[in-house]
Amino acid sequence: MIQTSPAGRELLARAPLIDSFGRHVTYLRVSLTDACNFKCTYCVPPDGYVPMGRPSYLDREHIVRLVRLSESVGIERVRLTGGEPLLRHDIVEIVRDIKDQTTLRDISITTNGSRLKPLLQPLKDAGIDRINISLDSLDPARFKAVTQVNAYQQVLEAAHAALAMGFPLKLNMVVMNGLTADEIIRFVRMAYDHPVEVRFLEFMPLCGSGWTPEKVFPISTIRSIIREQFLLEEESDRGDQVAQVFKIMGGKGRVGLIASLTESFCGQCSRIRMTADGRIRPCLFSDVEVPLGDLLRGNAPDEAIVAGLREAVRIKPAGNQFKDTPFTNQGPNTSAQADASAAVVMQGLGG
Ligand code: 5AD
Ligand code: SF4
Repeated sequence: MIQTSPAGRELLARAPLIDSFGRHVTYLRVSLTDACNFKCTYCVPPDGYVPMGRPSYLDREHIVRLVRLSESVGIERVRLTGGEPLLRHDIVEIVRDIKDQTTLRDISITTNGSRLKPLLQPLKDAGIDRINISLDSLDPARFKAVTQVNAYQQVLEAAHAALAMGFPLKLNMVVMNGLTADEIIRFVRMAYDHPVEVRFLEFMPLCGSGWTPEKVFPISTIRSIIREQFLLEEESDRGDQVAQVFKIMGGKGRVGLIASLTESFCGQCSRIRMTADGRIRPCLFSDVEVPLGDLLRGNAPDEAIVAGLREAVRIKPAGNQFKDTPFTNQGPNTSAQADASAAVVMQGLGG
């Protein structure tokens, strides 16, 4: 047996997270709750989603500890998600503790924006660096049709207030053929007028989302539509970012294109996620996971938690069903590809 010196053990404990395919894992998405006050049609199964409930959610101290230990093995960026993360009553304290107990260069949050406005200043003071708001339509009636909630005004006001406070802001829009695709240019105009990044996402076949191949609006078409009216300049270093980002010439903001289905980025994936009850999920489209909830609640030693993180990275799949066979609306694989992710419920995993 190879003897490891204490210094060697220390080095090993700090070795970065590298998966079986050589990808460095540096990005952790933390779901704080699987509850949500919206019922976005593309996210929530038609017969509803029953959240696991408060007793299942990790306490603040356990979440913060997990983030701290993740940082010690190379996680550089953390995003807080849900469900709707701002439904956590201790959201500001969670952010503050992460900020106080780590040296992370990037702590961000993805929210539906409905409860954001009054929390902007507290979140800023606590240390949030960036905000993503899911905003699928700029038309109040259509917004309501998509989210099943009458909150357009609140969300838009929160977005403007975030910009006024100087937050780097991204707006995520799921483009659905026949539903929201006709708003692409309207969104780009918004990014032209304001220093915001508008991000277009391909509609992914998640559980019960009413997904059909016809509803996918490919990023290549979006790119062409935008280029007919705007001059786009691609930002050079994409790194491990899932979005292809463009400056809009003459404008203030940016456009991000996220081609999850048609131009898979699994090969560059640097992320893992933790569910609200402490399961580490290395891939959104796979049910492989390492449960750490009990270890965290039981105050298990650091090594045990870090070993769990390493195991999750070790079993990270090469990619999803679109990795080698990109989606096309006519593809023979389309139904099989959709079926393969029929069990994935975004709300439960942290979108
Ligand atoms: N397809 C694409 N994006 C989705 N999201 C949720 N469900 C889907 C889906 N089926 C997005 C939300 C949010 C982000 C976290 O994930 O719009 O912006
Ligand atoms: Fe919509 Fe996000 Fe809530 Fe899903 S989790 S219903 S995408 S706001």
